[in-house]
Amino acid sequence: MSRTAFRSHILHFNDDPARNAAAGAVMAYDDGVLVVEDGRIAALGTPEEMADLTRDVDVQHCPDSLIIPGFIDTHVHYPQIDMIGSYGKDLLDWLGHYAFPTEIGLKRFKDKAIDTAGFFLDELLRNGTTSALVFPTVHAHTVDAIFSQALKRNMRLIAGKVMMDVHAPDDLLDTAQSSYDDSLSLIEKWRGKGRLGYAVTPRFALTSSPEQLRGAGDLLAQNPDVLLHTHLSENTKEIARAQELFPDSDSYLDIYQRAGLLGPRSIFAHCVHLTDAERRTLANAGAAIAHCPTSNLFLGSGLFDIAAAQEANITIGLGSDVGAGTSLSAFASMSEAYKVAQMRGHSLHPYEAFYLATLGGARAVHIDHHVGNFAPGKEADFVVLDLAATPLMARRLARANTFEEMLFALMILGDDRAVKSTYIAGALAHERQSAKNS
Ligand code: GUN
Ligand code: ZN
Repeated sequence: MSRTAFRSHILHFNDDPARNAAAGAVMAYDDGVLVVEDGRIAALGTPEEMADLTRDVDVQHCPDSLIIPGFIDTHVHYPQIDMIGSYGKDLLDWLGHYAFPTEIGLKRFKDKAIDTAGFFLDELLRNGTTSALVFPTVHAHTVDAIFSQALKRNMRLIAGKVMMDVHAPDDLLDTAQSSYDDSLSLIEKWRGKGRLGYAVTPRFALTSSPEQLRGAGDLLAQNPDVLLHTHLSENTKEIARAQELFPDSDSYLDIYQRAGLLGPRSIFAHCVHLTDAERRTLANAGAAIAHCPTSNLFLGSGLFDIAAAQEANITIGLGSDVGAGTSLSAFASMSEAYKVAQMRGHSLHPYEAFYLATLGGARAVHIDHHVGNFAPGKEADFVVLDLAATPLMARRLARANTFEEMLFALMILGDDRAVKSTYIAGALAHERQSAKNS
């Protein structure tokens, strides 16, 4: 048995603070001790409460730090890490000019996919992100690449072969049959390995035939352990095109619903332009939204209405959506989510933002029974954040009078420099190299 303990400011959530105002949803310790045993959370409490458990343990004292559960990125494209920050007009223009050519670039190169996947995962860890729901490309070997690299790092990660059989360059097309067969082979190949999960991943309605979408629905129905991951209502031109391609459907969401793709295991990225009826349908189905604010601003897609989604009782997580998103850092997603909500006349409380980036994300991608908070028995994926990572952060955070004020300044000013160390299942997976304040 190996027991370790960390003493610091500590924050985690037992529930959504926006929905559950009762005490106990937010667990904030000015001085707490997190006890980890054999890669899992053993206990959390004040130093006095943890005295017995830590009697023979060399407690790591982390002053000027905050320990939180690892961030969860609920929507990101790993091959696009190589074209992040590419200038474009809007979603469809950007896809054609940058995203598709970059993904074609992996078609014949297994080594390149493995290298990109490894770099991407190390960047996640450097940013304090311990789990993600990931788009590879249409090519099956890119799924093997991300899974094998995640397995090597013992990360809890979900991905699945992108399915796309129409309206894209030939080098990115599969067929309805081959996408079904290849997805099934990959599900069977990777099922039960390490901490990996599979998501059936039709890219979006614009690049799938009705037959392919129905095949994806069959995969979902036949494999109760897999998720469904796609894009929905990101951009107004995309929505118009979806309605042209599927004239019998009542709405964009209805296209997916008719194919059997809407259910409690479905995660839809963006959802910027939902109707009230679509929000109700998503809520009734128990589906989740990956809110990707840096991407929505970068592509000019629109302003997600988080208050409406919360009011409708939809599960929400935050996604970086790199490469349309401009950063892998959950700090960027939280601060841009705050600003997008401001533009919608709603102020996102820092507790809510940190909830979305941790337990909310874990719930959205169905890994909350393993990770997302510090409930005893959960896998010990966590990050140590440096509250004095830069001279400005040190100065500003020292002036915070309350935990909430500190947290808000941290989410607005923080970035990868604030991630001092990242732990995967209790083991150190990343330690910041640079000297303090650099
Ligand atoms: N919709 C379909 N494909 C993509 C993609 O790669 N990025 C984003 N942001 N939206 C998409
Ligand atoms: Zn995306």
